[in-house]
Amino acid sequence: MKRCFLAVFLALIALLTAACNGVPAILGIFSPAVTDVVDLGDVFGQDPPPTSTPFETEDPSAVPTAPAVLSPAPDPVDPTPGPYGPEDKLVALTFDDGPYWGVTDKILDVVEQHADDGVHVTFFVLGAQVVKYPSLVVRAARLGCEIGNHTYHHKYLTKLSPEEMLLEVEDVNEMVRELADASPVLVRPPYGAKDDAVRAGVPYPLILWNIDTLDWQTHNAEKTLEASLKCADGDIILMHDVRADSADAFEKLVPQLLEQGFKLVTVSELFAAKGIPLEAGKDYRRAK
Ligand code: NI
Repeated sequence: MKRCFLAVFLALIALLTAACNGVPAILGIFSPAVTDVVDLGDVFGQDPPPTSTPFETEDPSAVPTAPAVLSPAPDPVDPTPGPYGPEDKLVALTFDDGPYWGVTDKILDVVEQHADDGVHVTFFVLGAQVVKYPSLVVRAARLGCEIGNHTYHHKYLTKLSPEEMLLEVEDVNEMVRELADASPVLVRPPYGAKDDAVRAGVPYPLILWNIDTLDWQTHNAEKTLEASLKCADGDIILMHDVRADSADAFEKLVPQLLEQGFKLVTVSELFAAKGIPLEAGKDYRRAK
């Protein structure tokens, strides 16, 4: 009987306490460890719902433009004639710092006009430009041109750490791979700046040039044309697809070189034809 009274008494005290202090106080009678601050997430063993998706937290400017603007690109062109041999008179025209709308597309128009002659050039592209004009990269690749890597930001590789150097190169390779289904295999260091650290840090052959048209300095199509016409078999010519005068020079140059018996080939085609292997850790100015 005493036990029965005790049980009723305890139950009454519990009910009164609950009325005054709420549920935690009841729990406190049996479990003193329960704290006053109750986190619903913890109580139910669930994480709070995310405030945003991972994609919303990324900087949109760091994401390459989706290749949704590719419709004008032509069908792939068979890179004929070829393969070339050591007896062929070959020259590789290379364009740096693009792609640029209004220049690169004009150069590609000329390449397309001379497709039957197997005219190909090499574009050493900047990642920062590829983001802006991805369709030009796609079109260049479909026309049989080579896409080389000129780094993302055009920094002096000689001033970067090995990690930074690799990022500058691999970011571009990844972008081009998505656009053109082929990763660049050649790197042209910005400003032609290279040293032992660059040769060791960039895991691709470094492609320089032996004919500098100085188009970036003269902005004169005639002078660019004149400098280019001094080329010989195996040479690599440097131009820039950032100004209209370089595209004008190229338009006049192509028929003249063809008439002289030259074949205009990519850098990879040039070295393959001459039987010169391109190796990482080395730099090349011409195929001789
Ligand atoms: Ni450059």
